[in-house]
Formats: sequence, C-alpha cells, structure tokens
Amino acid sequence: MTKLITTVNEMSNLSRKIKLQGNTIGFVPTMGALHDGHLSMMEQSAEENDVSIISIFVNPLQFGPNEDFETYPRQLEQDAEAASKVNVDYIFAPSVEEMYPDELGVTLEVGRMAKVLEGAQRPGHFEGVVTVVNKLFNIIRPDNAYFGKKDAQQLAIVEKMTRDFNHPIKIKGVDIVREEDGLAKSSRNVYLTAQERKEATYLSKSLQLAKQLYDQGERDSENIINRVTEYLNSYISGEVQEVAIYSYPDLVKQNNITGQIFISLAVNFSKARLIDNIIIRG
Ligand code: PAJ
Repeated sequence: MTKLITTVNEMSNLSRKIKLQGNTIGFVPTMGALHDGHLSMMEQSAEENDVSIISIFVNPLQFGPNEDFETYPRQLEQDAEAASKVNVDYIFAPSVEEMYPDELGVTLEVGRMAKVLEGAQRPGHFEGVVTVVNKLFNIIRPDNAYFGKKDAQQLAIVEKMTRDFNHPIKIKGVDIVREEDGLAKSSRNVYLTAQERKEATYLSKSLQLAKQLYDQGERDSENIINRVTEYLNSYISGEVQEVAIYSYPDLVKQNNITGQIFISLAVNFSKARLIDNIIIRG
C-alpha cells in the first residue's frame, strides 16, 4: 500500500524510523504528472532498496516568471495509483507553504555548470532545483536517489551538489524512456498540438543523425550542430533554440570532440519547450 504524506515533520520522522530499523531508502523526486520515464526510476528504486519513497512537488523556485508554474499538470490521485503499481511505499507531497513556510534567508548558487544550456535559457532554474533537492535530501535522507538522463544537465549539477555538500547519498542516473516513435516522455508533451506531436519525433531522429555522424568519425562540433539544425528545421515548425555539444558530466563546451560528451537540443513549440539529448561515450 502506498501511503501519502504531506508534512515535513511526518516525513522526516518516518525516514529516521526506517533507517533506525536498518532499512535502505530509495528516493525519486518528481513534480508529478507521472509517465513511464518516472515509473521506470521508481521500479529501479523499489528493486534496489528496502523502502521506496517519491516526492511530488511542483517547486515554484525553479520556474521563471513567464514559465508554466500555474498550468503545470497536477493530478495527485492518478499519480498515487500509478506509483502504487511500481511498489512505491510513500509519496511525499507537501504544499508550497509546507516546503517554504517563510522566505529563504540562505540560498544556494550554482556556478559555471548552470550558466550554459538550460541554465542560460532559464536563469535561476538550477538554483531552484538544487535548493529543493537539498531540502528533500535532508528531509528524507535516502541511500540512493534517482534522476533521469533526460535532464542530463540537472543530473550533473545534482551529482556535483551532492559531493560538494557531503550528502551521504548515491545518485543514480536512469536512461531516457521514449515513446515508440522516439519522443522522450515528458509531462510537458501534453502541451503539443497534434501536428507538433508528429513533428516532435524528429528531435530524437536528429540525435540519431548526430550519433551516426560521430560514428562515421566526425569530431568537429560545428559540423554536427549544423547538420542537426538543418535537419530539424526541415521537419519541424517549432523554433530550434539550441543544438549544443558539451563534455559530460563536467559541462564544458566542445569544439573538437574528445572524451564523453552529450549532444543536447532545445526546441520551442507554440506552448511547449522540449529538450532531448544523447550521451556518447568517448
Ligand atoms: P520532473 O520533470 O517531474 O522529473 C522528475 C525526474 O524524472 C527527473 O530526474 C527527470 O530527469 C526524470 N525524467 C523525466 N522524463 C524522463 C524520461 N523520459 N526518461 C527518464 N527519466 C525522465 O526534474 C524534475 O521533475 C525536477 O527538477 C525535480 C528534480 C523533481 C526537482 O524539483
């Protein structure tokens, strides 16, 4: 049975009890509107830990003023049902007031890693992410925490924050789960029109093209970026905001590709901004 918990006190007392009993905790933070990408992480969490806890919290701190905080899909009942099928023991779903009872007096700042890609497009976003993840880690104190490679920059920054602040937590990166036609699952895919939904399959196809070029020996980032951009522009009506190649996980821009990299895309459709990426081992 999956149990819903809404207060910080109850959640932290419960976590401490679980740990005192000698059990391990797996933790999957989410903003809800659960899809197969979230559920695959929950399956892994349940397999690898004695107790599996998820959070569902649409974190206002990580949304910009013109972003979709108000309209972000909220469907707790449906989510609870989905979570119970993948053996989640507890759902922590606090209110905004519960998580942020008063204005923060101490804030976290993310350095260089948040000045590029999503961080450059969404100022303050990763500060909001690391702040809430830090709070959730302190409340839940998991042994293992699961993050998707869909948000590769987020995963890299959370790993760094975990090391920098000595959280005794193992961060596990989970592979991107896709629709049959290749579109990465996302809670924001519901914002796509029917036509855009069709076009959106070209995001993953363009990453396959990039991989193909890489496999054929191309190491000049500009050549890959240009080919991918052209390809996307010929198939989609949305605006290609960025195609970029960075080292992974240290997030340094690559002109000539060496070592492990990730190729990332951001595309603006009429109501949805979609991101996708592929990590290529050097
Ligand atoms: P959310 O967008 O709900 O995503 C929760 C987790 O699911 C993230 O780690 C994300 O990378 C992962 N995820 C999303 N789509 C995925 C897919 N198609 N395949 C695999 N994993 C996928 O990311 C957040 O929430 C928030 O920033 C959060 C970490 C909860 C902090 O508020």
